[in-house]
Amino acid sequence: MTSPDTGTTAYCFRTEHLTRSFSGFKAVNDVSLELPSGGVRTIIGPNGAGKTTLFNLLSGLLPPSQGRIYFGGRDITRLPPYERARLGIARSFQITNIFAKLSVEENVRLAVQAAFDGKANFFFPGSRMAGIAARTEEVLDEIGLGAAAGTLAENLSHGDQRRLEIGLVVARDPQVLLLDEPLAGMSPAETAATVELIVRITPGRTIVLVEHDIDVVMSVSTTITVMQTGGLLAVGTPAEIRANDAVQRAYLGGLD
Ligand SMILES: Nc1ncnc2c1ncn2[C@@H]1O[C@H](COP(=O)(O)OP(=O)(O)O)[C@@H](O)[C@H]1O
Ligand SMILES: [Mg+2]
Repeated sequence: MTSPDTGTTAYCFRTEHLTRSFSGFKAVNDVSLELPSGGVRTIIGPNGAGKTTLFNLLSGLLPPSQGRIYFGGRDITRLPPYERARLGIARSFQITNIFAKLSVEENVRLAVQAAFDGKANFFFPGSRMAGIAARTEEVLDEIGLGAAAGTLAENLSHGDQRRLEIGLVVARDPQVLLLDEPLAGMSPAETAATVELIVRITPGRTIVLVEHDIDVVMSVSTTITVMQTGGLLAVGTPAEIRANDAVQRAYLGGLD
């Protein structure tokens, strides 16, 4: 993706020789990748390929053993997670951030309020409450839980809880969302609703997605990066990845 004003490629994340070892074992091994800004940038690969470790490196949860990470051209290799969050990088954790005893609306409002507090200078005090209320409603609509606004979070289905969790991240209006297997354990109906949500929140953002469901991967991805044993196996559009012999071999049964 080339930005018209600078003529340079706008990368969300770029890594150089990124490596993370655990007691000598390289979970992520010399990964140099470029994830352009915008769209759904999906990372796939067999269990143990290093996908979650790569996410931990990008979000700052883990320091790399070697290599560098750039975000929008800036070297963030040594930035702690909260400073990366301030740059607009948000991560949805599989460990749930939801307050079980609060309603869906209260959960969203708290997240929206926290986001407003972070940008206090941009809002007049008088409009703060109205702004929070309006944004809360917007996020509820965005995650498709408007009708469940009054429901206690603990009474939501598994899929709705996971969507609420994504909503709590979206409330902060991040530039980049890292989603690690957001469809895990979901029914087909919940999967469909969550895929729809991911597609809905993508415009104006970059979604970095780790996902196993190959049909979903093929339908939502702008590009696919394939990892294997800590390294990169292939990068391309869904059509290119489907036609890639090395990827077909790695997935044995094939991608169809
Ligand atoms: N904290 C850790 N300590 C030791 N080994 C780890 C740790 N985290 C991940 N690994 C190992 O690194 C490899 C990659 O794991 P992971 O990044 O979770 O893969 P994926 O998400 O692709 O399934 C696995 O072999 C895993 O056992
Ligand atoms: Mg994983």
